[in-house]
Amino acid sequence: MAALKEVSALNADEAASELQRLAREIAKNDRQYYEKDAPKISDAAYDELRARNAAIEARFPELVRADSPSKRVGAKPAEGFGKITHKVPMLSLDNVFNDEDVHEFVARVRRFLRWPDEKPLIFTAEPKIDGLSCGILYKNGKLVQAATRGDGRTGEDVTANVRTIFDVPKALLGESWPEVLEVRGEVYIPDAAFDVMNEAQLAAGKPAYANPRNAAAGSLRQLDPAISAKRPLRFFAYAWGEVSAAFAKTQYEAVQKFGAWGFSINDHMRRCADAEEMIEVYHQIERERATLGYDIDGVVYKVDRLDLQERLGFVSRSPRWATAHKFPPQQAITMLEKIDIQVGRTGALTPVAKLKPVTVGGVVVSNASLHNADEIKRLDVREGDSVLIQRAGDVIPQVVKVLDPDREGRGEPFIFPDHCPCPLSTPAVHDIDEKTGEAGVITRCSGEFACPFQRVRHLEHFVSRQAFDIEGLGKKQISIFFGEKIILEPADIFTLAARNERLKLEEREGWGETSVANLFAAIEARRTISFERLLIGLGIRHVGQTTARLLSTSYLRWQAFHAAMLSAQDRQGEAYAQLQNLDGIGEIMADAIVQYFAEPHNEGLVERLLEQIRVKDATPPQSNSPVAGKTVVFTGKLEVMSRDEAKAGAAALGAKVAGSVSAKTDYLVAGPGAGSKLKKATALGVKVLSEQEWQALIGKSTI
Ligand code: IVH
Repeated sequence: MAALKEVSALNADEAASELQRLAREIAKNDRQYYEKDAPKISDAAYDELRARNAAIEARFPELVRADSPSKRVGAKPAEGFGKITHKVPMLSLDNVFNDEDVHEFVARVRRFLRWPDEKPLIFTAEPKIDGLSCGILYKNGKLVQAATRGDGRTGEDVTANVRTIFDVPKALLGESWPEVLEVRGEVYIPDAAFDVMNEAQLAAGKPAYANPRNAAAGSLRQLDPAISAKRPLRFFAYAWGEVSAAFAKTQYEAVQKFGAWGFSINDHMRRCADAEEMIEVYHQIERERATLGYDIDGVVYKVDRLDLQERLGFVSRSPRWATAHKFPPQQAITMLEKIDIQVGRTGALTPVAKLKPVTVGGVVVSNASLHNADEIKRLDVREGDSVLIQRAGDVIPQVVKVLDPDREGRGEPFIFPDHCPCPLSTPAVHDIDEKTGEAGVITRCSGEFACPFQRVRHLEHFVSRQAFDIEGLGKKQISIFFGEKIILEPADIFTLAARNERLKLEEREGWGETSVANLFAAIEARRTISFERLLIGLGIRHVGQTTARLLSTSYLRWQAFHAAMLSAQDRQGEAYAQLQNLDGIGEIMADAIVQYFAEPHNEGLVERLLEQIRVKDATPPQSNSPVAGKTVVFTGKLEVMSRDEAKAGAAALGAKVAGSVSAKTDYLVAGPGAGSKLKKATALGVKVLSEQEWQALIGKSTI
């Protein structure tokens, strides 16, 4: 082989083709190593390829490829991990940002529990570790399994890697642990170890990790546990999932037990009597933040008593009994190079600030949201301005203000386009505000199904994690397949394998026999899909995971739901009333859902998709409860529980909570002061229960 040219001697054309060659070469070797376990070159030769790639990219940053190996730190394909379904979902936390929010959180908990102000209610406060959550399962005291959070319901099997973490006991110490115990907590990398690790990365010609959290994620998700073992991973235990028996009465006691059983626990956890004390602990921890030795991004508050946590339960994907008090956003100054217009799934034209890349709180930021035309006007932001940006947690960075508005030679004010930037250049129209009837701030492309940008967004949404979750089919592939008319709508995804004799995907750049086979397997695995995921995937406006779950557990079968939505086009009819009467579905949402199915284009798309897939029926939550599937309405004053607690409890038992009484109502739970609903129920012959009778029915004793 001819000697390689020195990086310093390359011109731009040569550099571009060299980067292409390296991307291909490194990807090929990655496959040999990770998928086939059969490396064809030495580690040193492999490192040299990566180092050369990094050196060329450093000289020609504008030539960095979308598929550059430098963007795949740790380069381990996730397909290599087995999947684990969490018996108890791994949830996330709601956030609060200021003192007022903390007071409101405490007040809300008290209201829900009907807990008088003078009655003591203890909360815990502890650092929010900025790592990645992990559930570790012990059976008879032995570590048997460990999983990442994944989408909250299914995570990756990282058992072998977690076994190598120094402060995770392989066998529990002490005694009296439950036979089955899933300890949850955060995997992280301490700051000092992170610095050492990054120095080693750079010395090996590999790109540095952006922050300890990314480094921890990259390290935990190594397919080779021997590599994980060399990484300085640590673990803090702070929660639990599946357990065979209760082992504590309070949060505090539970965490202390984890400590006794051999886990590292955070020694900054405190018990607090009220919001004031919680805020005090927050500031104390904030002051110590820089010297803790590990990254944190806030403080988590939890109701201490576990029986109260249980009563409080969950809303959507976060517990009512806990919240995260985030530290203020981190800020930086940079140059706004350009304002780009992006088209969303629903056609909304969203301006995005393209920034000169800058590090904010350890993360490189090159885009910031500008929301809409009004926001651009309000900030009077123009291309070429120097801007202050901020970033809080995982939220998209924001532009706070322009720093040099008076400088000479400043550019012209940005003119918001009145056409979609898509090739059709369809006119953009203002949304009409539902309440005032006036033009709103959002501008939308009027092309709908014709607009190729919207269609691509729809497809991206369809394959995304919450929806069909098709591994190997990401934004990049969707965009290419759409551009070449290989996938134009969801049904096309499921005919891809059958068309491959002609398409020959394996012969394309970036694909090989294995990756094509993996893609087809991932698609095939989704040919049978849950009702809920299908609903999310359709991308109906306002229908996210919570609504999709509500609809699927209310209608149970796709066919029943679909038929009902077609009948619901008659807004005076029973089907529409039933939809709108579901607790959690308002008029705007109901209209969006019904309109979706009234649109012939959508109907065609759904019909073609359903020819390809099989939809699994939903099961009502807790189908063995006496009220599962029953429709219940609460009215009047409740005495044992707050209205919120009563409704949440009923929903958790699989009942449908409705707002008004109809012939479909099974129970009306009526407290003192019940009026028109009680009358209507009596007239319709609906069974009326007192709050005590309801409690008895669901098997709760009233104290
Ligand atoms: S408790 C039901 N405690 O924050 C939720 N979470 O934003 C139980 N996290 O997914 C979580 N430190 O990965 C809890 N001390 C702490 C935490 C913590 C970090 C993470 C966790 C969670 C995320 C939510």
